[in-house]
Amino acid sequence: MSIQKQVDELNAEGRERLRELARVAAAHAYAPYSGFRVGAALLLDDRTVVVGCNVENCSYRLTSCAEQGAIARAVAEFGPKIRVRAVAVANLNAAASMPCGACRQTLSEFGEDAMVVLYPGEGGAMETTLGELLPHAFRMEYLS
Ligand code: THU
Repeated sequence: MSIQKQVDELNAEGRERLRELARVAAAHAYAPYSGFRVGAALLLDDRTVVVGCNVENCSYRLTSCAEQGAIARAVAEFGPKIRVRAVAVANLNAAASMPCGACRQTLSEFGEDAMVVLYPGEGGAMETTLGELLPHAFRMEYLS
């Protein structure tokens, strides 16, 4: 089944569940510097969900974003062939927020342009695709 078809089958209930899992993960965030607690929940193509949260560091640039933590955990648990169908991002700060540029690139390594991205927007729950957020991504094909 194509990734697009799988994404089409991710219904409203599935989307809300993924958002909720991201919120739960955000409660585990280690964010003493920014106070911005972020969670991410990845839906893999076998329907497994893997979560992550941001982990900050007093050497600020070493901070790991929630999405990056989730990807690292998914690869560690399920191996290098994981494919991400959808990702939900949440924060406990009642703020609109989207995956940062670095996270968009990290996500693109493991999914297609059709990857569903669920995020809290100005007007509440919003949705887009990775292709919208990172058009013309740098991909491994360029390295050959
Ligand atoms: N953060 C994430 O976890 N994901 C993003 O996509 C954007 C930013 C975190 C990093 C840092 O701990 C805090 O949010 C403030 O930038």
